Amino acid sequence: MEEANVLKETYEIIINSIDEGIHCIDYNGNFLLYNPAEEKIEGYKASDILGKHVTEIYNLDKTTSMLLNVIETGIPIYNKRQVYFTKHGKHIDVITSTMPLHNGNKIVGSIAISKDFTQFRHMAERILDLQEKLTTKYSKTSSLQNEKLITFDTLIGLNALFEKSISWAKSASKTDSPILLFGETGTGKELFAQSIHEESKRSKGPFLAINCAAIPENLLEGILFGTVKGAFTGAINRVGLFEQANGGTLFLDEINSMPLTLQSKILRVLEEKKVRRVGGNEEILINPRIISSSNVLPATAIERGQIRADLFYRLAVVYLFIPPLRDRIDDMVLLSNYFIQELNSPLEKNITGLHPEVISAFKRYAWPGNIRQLKHTIECAMNIIATHETIISQNHIPSYLGLFDTENIHVELKSEGQISPPSTILNKIKDQEKDIVIAALMKSRGNVAKAAEDLVLSRQLLQYRLKRLGLK
Ligand SMILES: Nc1ncnc2c1ncn2[C@@H]1O[C@H](COP(=O)(O)OP(=O)(O)OP(=O)(O)O)[C@@H](O)[C@H]1O
Ligand SMILES: [Mg+2]
Repeated sequence: MEEANVLKETYEIIINSIDEGIHCIDYNGNFLLYNPAEEKIEGYKASDILGKHVTEIYNLDKTTSMLLNVIETGIPIYNKRQVYFTKHGKHIDVITSTMPLHNGNKIVGSIAISKDFTQFRHMAERILDLQEKLTTKYSKTSSLQNEKLITFDTLIGLNALFEKSISWAKSASKTDSPILLFGETGTGKELFAQSIHEESKRSKGPFLAINCAAIPENLLEGILFGTVKGAFTGAINRVGLFEQANGGTLFLDEINSMPLTLQSKILRVLEEKKVRRVGGNEEILINPRIISSSNVLPATAIERGQIRADLFYRLAVVYLFIPPLRDRIDDMVLLSNYFIQELNSPLEKNITGLHPEVISAFKRYAWPGNIRQLKHTIECAMNIIATHETIISQNHIPSYLGLFDTENIHVELKSEGQISPPSTILNKIKDQEKDIVIAALMKSRGNVAKAAEDLVLSRQLLQYRLKRLGLK
């Protein structure tokens, strides 16, 4: 009984505090629940709603009300865009999932969970405006004035694995083939994408990037393909990114987070080289170069159903792996000094380098946030270091890294799970090795001798590795 009460209170807290609007009705269509987020979205008060019939509140009937419809059919409706006006004239734009409620096999009511879409729309429109401005700016000037141009020269690193990635990326810049970049967070995927664009014959055209993880599906579709006035309430004539990026490069960042239905549409667009704006009939020819990125190992993303296999093969004609910092730790000092030099002047410091004990601690650390994390660590140290000091030492390093206190390292490893335990690291390394080998084989079209040459391995050693990795 006590457990049931605890659960009841938990549900109440969740319902009253989450951002999603929730309302539910009983079998007869009368409101049973109307949470504070729903009050905020629609502007009604729960006290005016509860006990009333759906058709009293909304201008809907049995066929047009999703709540009533779901009771009738028993079939849930997921993520449906709804645009309507309340009786007070408030314009509502939401994405709603509506599901039946059961008691045993019997349907006893229905529940609707809604996300306010208006804020997403504003955000998307702002992105599109900025992108448009950027495109115009780009096409008017050959490069962005006053902004640091990202090219391969700004990518720091001498590690052999990293140099290999750079050299592949440079060769691939000369073509129009789609490129898929795989690397953990903070390894430099965005820098690679921009450098490839700058090195390519499309460098005078626009470079447009969109993060597929940050934007809900309906919006992303409009952003990528464009919209036609009247396609949905509030829709205006807008050019999508595929069109805007004509003559340039479109960077689809975190493709592994793009909803699968949209992935199929992207696949079609890439195959047909034509796009149809949302709500439009006209097919428009497009020719952007597509670079995409995944921060999950592609094999894993496909296995988990995050990336459609057919889209992966279409996007990964050239597959580039960017190694994590822990696998190119020989670059750590070079990168640190580069960030130090970059920050000396703006932070009005005169730092010359890292203390040897910091170097060795940094070399032991796993850097889960990779180069971004190293950069921020250096910036943090340079903020707190006294003006007269010239060397970054232990006491300037943020304690959350747990580098100089073995007890802390242990606790942080356990609590934050930032660094994988040894067995997982070994698995990860194995996965990455597998990925590198697959990439080499894709490049050599299955020719083991050629792949071995690329990987600077003997043919026998590659054969052995293929066996060990279960690739043979
Ligand atoms: N080789 C490099 N040389 C200099 N700076 C680098 C290098 N690689 C990455 N950086 C810096 O590290 C930061 C992260 O890079 P970037 O945003 O390209 O990573 P990412 O792989 O796209 O990360 P995420 O997956 O989190 O989006 C940036 O500040 C970038 O300037
Ligand atoms: Mg990125």
